[in-house]
Amino acid sequence: MKTFTDGFFSIDPINGFLPVKEPLLILPKKYILLQKLIDEMPIKKMNGNKGLLSKENAFEEAALELPNFLEEVKKEKDPFIIAALYRSYSFITSAFTLAKSHHTYLKTGKYGKARERLPKNIAQPYVVISDKLEVFPWLDYHYAYSLGNYHKIDKAGGLKWNNLSMAAKFSGMDDERGFIMLHVDINQYSPDLVKSVFGITQNTENPLKLSDNIALMGTTLNRMNSRRKLMWEASRWKHYNDFRVFIMGVKGNDDIFPNGLIYEGVWDKPHAYRGQTGAQDNIIPTADIASGVIHFYPQNQLTKYLMDLRQYRPKCVQQFFKELAFHMHKNPIIHLLGETQNQKGMQNLMQVYEEIYLFRNGHWQFVQKYIMQNTAYPKATGGTPITSWIPNQIKAVLKAMKVLSENMNSSAEWNKNIWKENYNKKVKLLNKQLEIVAVESFDPNEVFKLNLKFDSQDF
Ligand code: HEM
Repeated sequence: MKTFTDGFFSIDPINGFLPVKEPLLILPKKYILLQKLIDEMPIKKMNGNKGLLSKENAFEEAALELPNFLEEVKKEKDPFIIAALYRSYSFITSAFTLAKSHHTYLKTGKYGKARERLPKNIAQPYVVISDKLEVFPWLDYHYAYSLGNYHKIDKAGGLKWNNLSMAAKFSGMDDERGFIMLHVDINQYSPDLVKSVFGITQNTENPLKLSDNIALMGTTLNRMNSRRKLMWEASRWKHYNDFRVFIMGVKGNDDIFPNGLIYEGVWDKPHAYRGQTGAQDNIIPTADIASGVIHFYPQNQLTKYLMDLRQYRPKCVQQFFKELAFHMHKNPIIHLLGETQNQKGMQNLMQVYEEIYLFRNGHWQFVQKYIMQNTAYPKATGGTPITSWIPNQIKAVLKAMKVLSENMNSSAEWNKNIWKENYNKKVKLLNKQLEIVAVESFDPNEVFKLNLKFDSQDF
């Protein structure tokens, strides 16, 4: 495997999926008015006072006063400055368009329509800076909301979510920080994940090293899962709607943006891009490609959506996925282990599947609580239907497990009967949950309660 980099990210066993150094906290001095708008924006500002987004129309009025930095941004070459500018314009664009929906939500309990025109002083520099990064001009996960937006509170401390704050924020409240900084926290282990896939692709003919690298993937995913579970305390589910509307996208969210978005002074026709979502994160797709789960994805809209989301990632990540997929296509891991009867490797691979399952099933519980329990709005921030698409991917993992188990022998380390009992429990839980959500006016709490009944509750 080669290392792919754009100067901000470098996908290798040292940096994993995190930026090569901490992102810029503030913009260079010449953009002081832009920085000021970012600092004044949050519903709750750093000093505890109410910010522009707390008052109807206040943010939009201030944003219209912003000078057009088009000529300045054209000259920028430093990847960290470009990323910080992209982050700033992304936040301003989402706030400008979605503040209206947020205030309607506060009044009516339903997301209202967004503004459909982005003024020239924002649209022009934003599109130039997005072109420099080769990404879409809409808030993304990598450079804007999550990985490119962290700042260590104690510089000597680590990347645990409670030692991280956000450079730019919408609500400015602890639940927003906990929610998105936990994504960064989970990624602190991504260097080992990348190391394991480099090791797998380099050792297809060495059964022992192959098996060791699969084991490294399993233990890394296990550490990531234990961090992921902290979501329940990092961000309270009842407070998800305090900031959620600001990370919505245009594409797929027709109720909020029925006509797309006009970028004034750039294009005459409206454009539509998907919203910020953890589905733009790289951990699960990497594990899926390397472990072969990807071969069990159903051929349906969700798979198309996940593939569409590949374009919503930095170019270097897209190249990394392509190269990994190329290697794994030549040497599908289940075949490789089956041909050599590498039973230890198969046990390690089953552990990887178990961790992907636990990640997705825990994540499904996030969706049940943070989204389904809070709102009947049926679309996710990335524009996908809430109740059907996450379970689809759980099914892919379950299928991969089943096929692998057919190649495995019972042994002291792996007991087929016990495995089967646990497997049947997983299938039964999902089927029962899907039965409930199939009814139009279902009770989300009934779905959630089943997790406890099946001894599968995530916390
Ligand atoms: C409260 C926490 C979370 C909620 C409510 C949530 C919600 C969602 C929703 C609704 C989707 C469907 C796609 C869309 O947005 O349109 C999704 C997809 C996804 N999310 Fe999250 N998410 C959460 C946390 C995370 C975390 C911490 C990660 C990983 C770092 C993550 C990774 C993913 C992935 C990989 C997908 C794609 C579906 C799959 O491959 O299983 N999410 N999420």
